[in-house]
Amino acid sequence: MAEYELAVRGGMVATGFGTARCDIGISGGRIAALAGRIADAAETIEADGLLVLPGGVDSHCHIEEPQPDGSVIEESFLTASASAFAGGTTSVVCFVPQWKGHGVWERYRDHRRRAAGGMLDYAFHQIISDPTDAVLEEELPRLVAEGVRSLKVFLTYDALHLTDAGYLRVLAAARRLGCLVTVHCENYDAITWRTGALLAAGLTAPKYHAWSRPPVVEREATHRAIALAELVDQPIQVFHVSCAEAAEEIARAQARGVKVWGETCPQYLTLTAADMDRPGFEGAKFMCSPAPRDAAEHERLWEMIRRGVLDVVSSDHSGFSFEGERGKRRHGAGAPFRDIPNGVPGLAARLPLLFSEGVAKGRITLDEFVRLTAWNPARLMGLAPRKGAIQVGADADLVLWDPRRRVRLTNALMRHAIDYTPYEGMEVTGWPVATLRRGAVVMRDGEVTAEPGTGAFLPREPYAFIRPRGVLADGFDAAPAPGR
Ligand code: URP
Ligand code: ZN
Ligand code: ZN
Repeated sequence: MAEYELAVRGGMVATGFGTARCDIGISGGRIAALAGRIADAAETIEADGLLVLPGGVDSHCHIEEPQPDGSVIEESFLTASASAFAGGTTSVVCFVPQWKGHGVWERYRDHRRRAAGGMLDYAFHQIISDPTDAVLEEELPRLVAEGVRSLKVFLTYDALHLTDAGYLRVLAAARRLGCLVTVHCENYDAITWRTGALLAAGLTAPKYHAWSRPPVVEREATHRAIALAELVDQPIQVFHVSCAEAAEEIARAQARGVKVWGETCPQYLTLTAADMDRPGFEGAKFMCSPAPRDAAEHERLWEMIRRGVLDVVSSDHSGFSFEGERGKRRHGAGAPFRDIPNGVPGLAARLPLLFSEGVAKGRITLDEFVRLTAWNPARLMGLAPRKGAIQVGADADLVLWDPRRRVRLTNALMRHAIDYTPYEGMEVTGWPVATLRRGAVVMRDGEVTAEPGTGAFLPREPYAFIRPRGVLADGFDAAPAPGR
């Protein structure tokens, strides 16, 4: 019998902490050896001329999420899996919604059932939009016991936003339970006020979405989210940072030693507010929140990435098509921006865009690319080193990457259920030629070969990386954590 079930041979292995030409021996779905030469394997994959990267970890994806009107966004776990594998991503953290007036446990059970139909490995963030005692004290501890260790809260959106009081309650509960809190930072009242004024002035086209939420709205909410988290001594991650002035708030807090991390997304590094001003209703395809800014802002965000202020690049993949009854044009081509679903798809495009705009154009190193797309999200979400790492004992989630291949992005290449990509026609350098999930080839040359129902839930144990600092105003702990 061969020593290893599979060997990946001759590639340049990039771990995020250095690159070396070596072979990888795989058995039982895990990395069993890293060595100069592995000869004794039942099967081999030749990776000469290719990079071998850890499978991408996308810690911010909206997949098959139920909506308040009872519909479910059309990107299913099955189609999202194909899209992820096509783009070199092997695990995601996605969202279980909570609607005001409802609990979370049943939504969690439903979402586990949905996710079981997919092919990629997944963990959950629990959205909290109604932090009642029953939710925080009875249901949430059950979810944490199941391995759900991150919460998402929104400081905007009609159906989801929390007041400061609600946000504080969630921070305190997270601290008691040992969860990370992720935060959508935009000021609800400011956006509502400006939206009302814009619509009253007849400024309704998609481009006015950006006018309804300028950077100051994001900066203010980022500052407040961090300040309240600091008060409670609860670590947070600020999601989808779109501008340097919000990132500066994070940088200042990090310099004080506060445990706050920042995420950005490819749309904030490549799209601009001008895209929302394309003719007809096309601009709706680029609408997301926060809104894309401009090319100068892209460069400021790259600088924030290089400084390590923003250390995760996720997709914020949002499953709304353009056409159809659930699509962005569902209310017609004259719909005011307020009624157009937010979000852009990007699960498959994330790695190619970041590699091309980042590594190929010299803005970041290969190590930084790997850390931004795999190691850092896995570590922050409590999934490392099982995910996001190339080391002995880790899951054999690998991407064979051709750093020289030039590809023009099309919607067909995205392999998702959505009828468009905002990146249509963009040329990238660097492309995944094969993806392995737990040692099995699940994509080769664009063909997805995994079987439905083979994705695994990733329960998360308590982990030290997100432990509160123990720095409290006046030394008084308003949210004591048992045993801490
Ligand atoms: O516009 C966005 N980002 N849509 C997805 C929902 C969210 O806020 O993350
Ligand atoms: Zn958000
Ligand atoms: Zn999102």
